[in-house]
Amino acid sequence: MIVLGIETSCDETSAAVVKDGSTVLSNVVASQTEAHHRYGGVVPEIASRLHIDAISRVVGAAMEKAGVPVGAIDGVAATRGPGLIGSLLVGFSFAKAFSYAANVQMTGVNHLEGHIYSSFLCDTPPPFPFIALVASGGHTNIYYVQSYSRFELMGQTRDDAVGEAFDKVSKMLGFGYPGGPVIESMALKGDPARIDFPRTFLEKGSFDFSFSGIKSAVGRYLAENPDRSEESLHHIAAGFQAAVRDVLIGKLLLACTEKECLNVAVTGGVAANSTFCRALSSRAGQSGITVHVPAKEYCGDNAAMIGARGFRQFMDGDVCSVSDDVFSKNRI
Ligand code: KG4
Ligand code: ZN
Repeated sequence: MIVLGIETSCDETSAAVVKDGSTVLSNVVASQTEAHHRYGGVVPEIASRLHIDAISRVVGAAMEKAGVPVGAIDGVAATRGPGLIGSLLVGFSFAKAFSYAANVQMTGVNHLEGHIYSSFLCDTPPPFPFIALVASGGHTNIYYVQSYSRFELMGQTRDDAVGEAFDKVSKMLGFGYPGGPVIESMALKGDPARIDFPRTFLEKGSFDFSFSGIKSAVGRYLAENPDRSEESLHHIAAGFQAAVRDVLIGKLLLACTEKECLNVAVTGGVAANSTFCRALSSRAGQSGITVHVPAKEYCGDNAAMIGARGFRQFMDGDVCSVSDDVFSKNRI
C-alpha cells in the first residue's frame, strides 16, 4: 500500500511517500525556521501563511522524488493534532481535497504517535514492549508502547517542554530559534559540571517533568553573573544541557524498571541531540537496555513518520471523512 503522508503541525511543511508503512520512497521537508528565527519562537500566523505557500510544491516534490503518480497513491494520511490550528488546517484540508480528487481514503494522524512511529523507520526497530520518549518543542511525553496501536502515557511535562526549554534558554543567551542545535554545539566546548543547575525530579516515582525551574535558574544565573564571554556561555550551555540530560535519563531508566523493558526509543526534535543520546546509551547499556534513535531526518517533524502511522491506521480501518476537524491539544 502506498501512502502519501502530510505534516504541517508547526513550522515544517512536509510530504512523504511511504510504501507498506516502513519503506520511505521520499520525504520532503520545507523548514520555516529562518522566518521565525528573529522572534525566538514560532509565530503562528506566519507559520500558517508559509504552509499555504509551500504545501502544493512540497507534495508535488515528494511524489516526483518517489516516482509515484497520483493514480498510484492508495491513501493519504495527514497530521490532525496536536499542534497550531492554523498550521494543521493547511495540511489537513489539503489532504481532504487530495482524497476527494484522487478518490482515495484519508486518515488523520496524532502527531505524537507519528513521532513514536519514527522509531520504526529503520532496519532494526525496537521490539515490543518498549519505552518511548517524545521530546519536542511542544511535548515531553514518556509512553509505554505495547503494540502498534497501544500507547500508555506514563508521564508528561507540567510546564515547559524540553525543546521549549532549549529554545527559551537560547533566547536568553542571545541565540535565536531553534535553540537545541546551537545550545548543543556551544555545550561541546563547555564544562557540564562547572555550573550546577537544578535537576527537578518531582515526587518520588513520578514520570512527569518540569523544566521551567531549570530555565528560570539559567535566567537567575545570567542576572547574577554579568560575564558574557564565549567561555562563560559555553559553560552555561553545558550546565543547562547536563541538568536536562540527568532528568531525562533518570525518568527513562525508571520507566524501564517499572515496565520491565529493555528497549527505549528516543524521538522528536530533541532526539537530534547526539550528546544526550550518547549519554543515555552509555547509562542504559550498564543495565542491559538498548537505546533506539531514528535517523536525524526523522527526529524533527517530518511526513514519513505520519505516512508510517497512517499505514497502520488504514490497516485497522481507522479512516476519517471530510467533516472531521483538527485538534490543538493532545488526546493520548
Ligand atoms: O519535533 P520537532 O521538530 O517539532 C515539534 O513537534 O515541536 O522539535 C523541535 C524542537 C525545538 O524545540 C528544537 O530546539 C529542538 O526540537 N531540538 C533540539 C535539537 N535539535 C532540535 N533540542 C536539543 N538538541 C538538539 N540538537
Ligand atoms: Zn513534533
